[in-house]
Amino acid sequence: MYLDTSMRVLTIGDGDLTFSRSLVSHHGIENLTASVLDSEADLRAKYSENALGDLTEQKIDVVFNLDITDNKTIPASLLGQFDLVIFQFPLIPNFKSQSIFERTKHWGSNGLNRLLLHKFLKNSFTLLLAENGARLAYISSKDVKPYCDWDIENLHKSLPGVRFLGWQQFVLSDFPEYVVRNVDRDKDVKSTAAKSYVWSDKPEQNKSLTLNPSEKHKNNYCALCGNGPFSTDAIIQSHRQSRRHKKLQGYDDNWRRILLEQD
Ligand SMILES: C[S@@+](CC[C@H](N)C(=O)[O-])C[C@H]1O[C@@H](n2cnc3c(N)ncnc32)[C@H](O)[C@@H]1O
Repeated sequence: MYLDTSMRVLTIGDGDLTFSRSLVSHHGIENLTASVLDSEADLRAKYSENALGDLTEQKIDVVFNLDITDNKTIPASLLGQFDLVIFQFPLIPNFKSQSIFERTKHWGSNGLNRLLLHKFLKNSFTLLLAENGARLAYISSKDVKPYCDWDIENLHKSLPGVRFLGWQQFVLSDFPEYVVRNVDRDKDVKSTAAKSYVWSDKPEQNKSLTLNPSEKHKNNYCALCGNGPFSTDAIIQSHRQSRRHKKLQGYDDNWRRILLEQD
């Protein structure tokens, strides 16, 4: 993950805060604000071991109850303040109420997770990133199903000016003392292959980042599955009849409906 010690960094949804602690203790990030969706009491109750004490000792600001999908929960003091906003292993939590479940269940888990990531990108670029900075947003996510079915590399497409710059392998051992946490339980998440995805609306300022392009964005590859290269129309047609492609097409159709409903 590309990090520069001079960056003003905001972490979103950092569960037990151990990722934020690692940024400070092992990557020399001095200007950090950490945020979690939970209240302080919920964080302490959920994660018996957490990094809140260590961050407080180092005078790092921790913002509680920050729901990245709900602008009203974002304190005014955070607006336009950061060079980089990071969301590690986002995942929707359990439904807060039966009525929310009833209202949104038709979108499915795939759609709801896409919406979470989409709102993270939207609010990062419209609210949180500083005009004069690098204007970068990162999401790390597992590269296994169901996470790799979220089409993360294309979630920015309805956001004006925002470009997907590429991805890097996420290497957990680069972040000592970071424990990837389960969303609603005091459990560690099993380590699997994961990628950190990178966006900016100032791509020319971030040209020095060494990133891998998405297969989905290459000529003659399937824009949904990343399969290819395809040399003939007949092979493309046959790929479109595959079970995997049809499944991803279904998720994509659902996502387009969600975006329309959001407008
Ligand atoms: C799988 S856990 C990962 C926790 C932590 N980021 C880590 O890497 O260990 C998913 C996290 O996403 C957070 N999250 C889910 N929805 C969110 C939202 N709307 N706003 C902020 N955080 C959210 C959850 O609170 C949870 O901490």
